[in-house]
Amino acid sequence: METILIAGGTGLIGKQLSAYWQQHGHTVRLLTRQASNPETGRYHWNPQTSEMDATALEGVTVLVNLCGAGIADKRWTKTRIKELFDSRVETTACLWQHAQASPTLKHYISASGAVCYGFEDDTKTYVETDPFGSDLLSEITREWEAAADRFSEKCPVTKIRISVVIAGEGGAIPTIAKPIRMGFGAILGSGTQAVPWIHIHDLVRVFDWTLINNLSGVYHANAGNTDNATLTRAIATALGKKIWLPKAPSFVMKLVLGSLSVMVLKGVKVSNGKLVSSGFLFEEKELEGAIKDVLK
Ligand SMILES: NC(=O)c1ccc[n+]([C@@H]2O[C@H](COP(=O)([O-])OP(=O)(O)OC[C@H]3O[C@@H](n4cnc5c(N)ncnc54)[C@H](OP(=O)(O)O)[C@@H]3O)[C@@H](O)[C@H]2O)c1
Repeated sequence: METILIAGGTGLIGKQLSAYWQQHGHTVRLLTRQASNPETGRYHWNPQTSEMDATALEGVTVLVNLCGAGIADKRWTKTRIKELFDSRVETTACLWQHAQASPTLKHYISASGAVCYGFEDDTKTYVETDPFGSDLLSEITREWEAAADRFSEKCPVTKIRISVVIAGEGGAIPTIAKPIRMGFGAILGSGTQAVPWIHIHDLVRVFDWTLINNLSGVYHANAGNTDNATLTRAIATALGKKIWLPKAPSFVMKLVLGSLSVMVLKGVKVSNGKLVSSGFLFEEKELEGAIKDVLK
């Protein structure tokens, strides 16, 4: 059984991941910018000042980084873009600063993003060895993973490039579902933009899979690729609603969201071949079923 410290473990993925690992007998601690409370397994840090509760890393065998300011939460101003980088790259650097001398650490696992290849070729299904794109999301991912690679001096490093997470408690699905519930749902842009997706339950199992099999390197966590129109209609069907509004034109989305509009108007398809070849079996392979499950 491992002692696992999850930085950013208070969020959407971290809550489910920590519950799963606790159920499987591991000791789980969360590293948070909130106050320390060892009784609830929470340990304070401030990655901006490199402060960390001195006891957080004691006996830790597995360190996981799920930190990151929400990519789609706010418009991409200069200040916000810095926060998007720092909350991933600087947090990783801070973890390395504190953990490099750890006598017990034996595995570092980092969240990463699957939308990191640019948007030049929407017919292609990208694999983990394809080069990064040159847009903002790709650049953030490249720096985030490079920071994670510092840990390879010490232990195996796993970088899990996460697709759009299908979950009911947060992330993209409740955001898309909100206007649909109110009867104002619309397909955004052309509707053909690719959306790689994974159910939260399978995503948690991917993290566990890399841990128990000691897998290092980069893995796409992706159950399949759909498109924006299919995803929107699947959410409407799960909610018993109809999409009756016309498509929201791309220029309107650009006016409303600015550069952030790329998040809804562009997409990439990614392969899960490497993960499947390692023996991983998805439990939620069908999009409609996955959506119904989280919106029930
Ligand atoms: N959800 C998805 O669809 C998806 C898809 C691809 C990649 N990812 C990536 O996977 C990671 C986890 O995703 P999630 O959905 O669980 O995210 P989340 O719910 O937003 O949680 C992220 C955690 O990061 C910490 N955090 C936020 N802003 C921070 C900052 N400025 N500095 C340091 N820590 C900060 C917070 O912990 P405290 O407040 O406790 O410190 C928060 O609980 C993120 O890096 C995200 O980009 C997610």
